[in-house]
Amino acid sequence: MTAPIRENLSGLDLRAEIERLRKERNAVILAHYYQKPEIQDLADFVGDSLELSRKAADTDADVIAFCGVKFMAETAKILSPEKIVILPDMDAGCSLEDSCPPEQFARFRAKHPDHIALTYINCSAAVKALSDIIVTSSSAETIISQIPEDQPIIFGPDRHLGGYLNRKFGREMLLWPGVCIVHEAFSETELLKLKAQHPCAPVAAHPECPPHIIDHADYVGSTSGILQFAKTFPGDTLIVATEPHIIHQMELAIPEKTFIGAPGADGNCNCNICPYMALNTMEKLYIALRDLQPRIEMDEELRLAARKSLDRMLEMASGTVGKGDLGRA
Ligand code: 13P
Ligand code: SF4
Repeated sequence: MTAPIRENLSGLDLRAEIERLRKERNAVILAHYYQKPEIQDLADFVGDSLELSRKAADTDADVIAFCGVKFMAETAKILSPEKIVILPDMDAGCSLEDSCPPEQFARFRAKHPDHIALTYINCSAAVKALSDIIVTSSSAETIISQIPEDQPIIFGPDRHLGGYLNRKFGREMLLWPGVCIVHEAFSETELLKLKAQHPCAPVAAHPECPPHIIDHADYVGSTSGILQFAKTFPGDTLIVATEPHIIHQMELAIPEKTFIGAPGADGNCNCNICPYMALNTMEKLYIALRDLQPRIEMDEELRLAARKSLDRMLEMASGTVGKGDLGRA
């Protein structure tokens, strides 16, 4: 469990204090689309996993305040080791990372010595170090299409993203059995009820969704791909099958359109809020900037080993943002 905040911050103007500290620390605030709207609104940059990795690699700030989950902040540290990288709540993990302990992954790899390991970025630094190439959901298609068809592949830890890629590319990658607890929670029955109420509304889904949700999607892609689809689809209502905090960016960009979060089993999409992303708050961001803690620290040997597979991703994905997305199902 995450530690409660013990100090009384009630008299503080948190937004103003964060602004002040951001300047004092020469910090850049990077936020994922699944962060609370108040955090997205003050971030220097809001993006998907690939875009945030690129920003972390390129920044000339001294401090990266990463408003996302731990594997994302670790990625920032791997790519920018000289920076101080802070994460407002160190317990902000990910069910996919949890599903894939490095020792078990190493044994899986050892059983398949002729396979390369293509690994989703939602994993620990230790699993990245055991992998050949990292992918994000926005770079997976471009990267997989560069791997010879006769090259056997292990794909982990998301079996739904891996299964989606297998179907789309006619591959037979061996899949690690991890899932995202958030995308797993969407209900097909409730989605069909919602579609019946909005027969003209397309469905945009993240590839972490299980196949019974993907089967009803008009568009499948990363968070940035879904946002782009929201800006360009011709209708006025969109059903969004990913973490609902991304709807904030849609409403800012296209206020005249209606965005409806896909429902979970109880018909209420609140169960699809990522509990890990939700651990970051304005209070914790303020404390992290003030104390420069909690901070990502990493053993240099591990960092260098993990960096190789991330560099492969950045090379193979280069020039792909926007056009290298997973696209239509
Ligand atoms: P994106 O790379 O599409 O932003 O996905 C990250 C993630 O964790 C989705 O659950
Ligand atoms: Fe992990 Fe799922 Fe949360 Fe993304 S939404 S960080 S995959 S638990």
